[in-house]
Amino acid sequence: MVKFDILHGQGAGWPDRLTAVRQWFRRRPGPVFRLSEQDGTRLFLHYATLPVADRHQRFHGRSPYGLILERCQNIDFNEAIILGQKVGRRLIGVVELLPSMADDEPAYELAVSVLPAWQHQGVALALVQAALNHAAQVDPLRPVVLFTETDNQGMLRICRKLKGKGELMGGEYRFLFRPSLRRSGLVA
Ligand SMILES: CC(C)(COP(=O)(O)OP(=O)(O)OC[C@H]1O[C@@H](n2cnc3c(N)ncnc32)[C@H](O)[C@@H]1OP(=O)(O)O)[C@@H](O)C(=O)NCCC(=O)NCCS
Repeated sequence: MVKFDILHGQGAGWPDRLTAVRQWFRRRPGPVFRLSEQDGTRLFLHYATLPVADRHQRFHGRSPYGLILERCQNIDFNEAIILGQKVGRRLIGVVELLPSMADDEPAYELAVSVLPAWQHQGVALALVQAALNHAAQVDPLRPVVLFTETDNQGMLRICRKLKGKGELMGGEYRFLFRPSLRRSGLVA
């Protein structure tokens, strides 16, 4: 929290004052929460305001606005597990867990995105960890899969940190997380 004497203190020039005001407005992300139906528009705005390259990575190249809007309008928020973090009203980070299949067994597919101004601050790592914990609570035996491009250094780092098992598949990496292994303590 910026103190007011920073703004009024002797010797504080305009650049210092502007920096102080910016810091005052730049609040910390709130707690991780589960999105519900009423968050559909906010979810679309999050995806729409990602830079093109990030949106491309998030949606594996399939990212025209129309498709994303339709997707956000049709998500079943009871079935999908979507967690996010807000700053004010803005969703700055989102992780989705959607029912899927992996190696012929029911799984969740995980995908995550963080707005550029909040990247490199541990937001994605915390969201992915929260999503894996959530998945393990809902169904301890159901694996979680995540697909990422091979040059996505941030995502690769997170997957490796969280002990995902990676393999190349169709030019992308597929990471597999097994909740039961995490819960039993076999994986740190
Ligand atoms: C990938 C992405 C989610 C990472 O978000 P983030 O909040 O910046 O990640 P974190 O801050 O939690 O970083 C976790 C680790 O990855 C590293 N990292 C993050 N971005 C990185 C990058 N571009 N290059 C190298 N390392 C990176 C961090 O340094 C950190 O490592 P550390 O804990 O050892 O310091 C974000 O860049 C993004 O939204 N990209 C677009 C969408 C996307 O690619 N999604 C993945 C496919 S589903």
